[in-house]
Amino acid sequence: MRIVLVGPPGAGKGTQAAFLAKNLSIPHISTGDLFRANISQNTELGRRAKAFMDAGDLVPDEITIGMAKDRMEQPDAEKGFLLDGFPRNVSQAEALDVMLQAAGMKLDAVLDLEVEEDEVVKRIAGRRICRNDSAHVFHVVYAAPETEGVCDKCGGELYQRDDDSEATVRTRLEVYHTQTEPIIDYYKAQGLLVTIPALGEVADVTQRAMDALKK
Ligand code: AP5
Ligand code: ZN
Repeated sequence: MRIVLVGPPGAGKGTQAAFLAKNLSIPHISTGDLFRANISQNTELGRRAKAFMDAGDLVPDEITIGMAKDRMEQPDAEKGFLLDGFPRNVSQAEALDVMLQAAGMKLDAVLDLEVEEDEVVKRIAGRRICRNDSAHVFHVVYAAPETEGVCDKCGGELYQRDDDSEATVRTRLEVYHTQTEPIIDYYKAQGLLVTIPALGEVADVTQRAMDALKK
């Protein structure tokens, strides 16, 4: 299956993607995680992306689209993939369509995780991520680790993302409304959009998404 996950920052895309990718046996491709890996390895791409991310702005398309394409062309993505955080504006969605068409492929569904703004702000403020593995995501209230600051899964140190400050979150939400939300209509017009209410227990949201994909 080829699936796109959309939703505001903090909606739970990364959290859900980890479970959905495992259930569906497809790789989870997160452009945010790819950028953060490049930043921690101090690559040229990471150095170019960092200032945009720290400000809460989108990284320019000429950097992002090539990086996403390279990842989708890896052998493990031949059988399908779950895209998290890409596409993030209409020109990226159009570029994805061109890429898929050239490869004789198409998307199966676009899942839109719907959560109100107050809740995403709370989710982001309490989020903590493991330094060893970005799929190990916690929350100080909603998904607290047994020992504060320590990953339950691997013992790694938990940290707060640089772009999770209150001011940057406000910019990210604004960018989401102005630049990313238009892709919802774009995919609605293609008959691919499925809205998933994303409030409630993590496992319940995963179940809603799995049920929607079976239809
Ligand atoms: P990215 O990493 O994609 O960030 P984002 O879209 O802002 O999304 P988040 O990672 O903040 O949230 P999420 O929805 O994954 O939520 P999570 O599961 O962690 O992008 C970062 C930056 O990279 C962008 O700002 C941009 O600069 C750049 N970038 C990336 N892609 C790009 C692109 N295509 N083009 C240009 N630039 C790009 O959950 C949040 C918290 O809530 C966690 O603590 C979790 O434990 C908790 N939680 C999750 N589900 C629940 C639940 N059901 N109940 C209670 N708590 C929950
Ligand atoms: Zn860990």
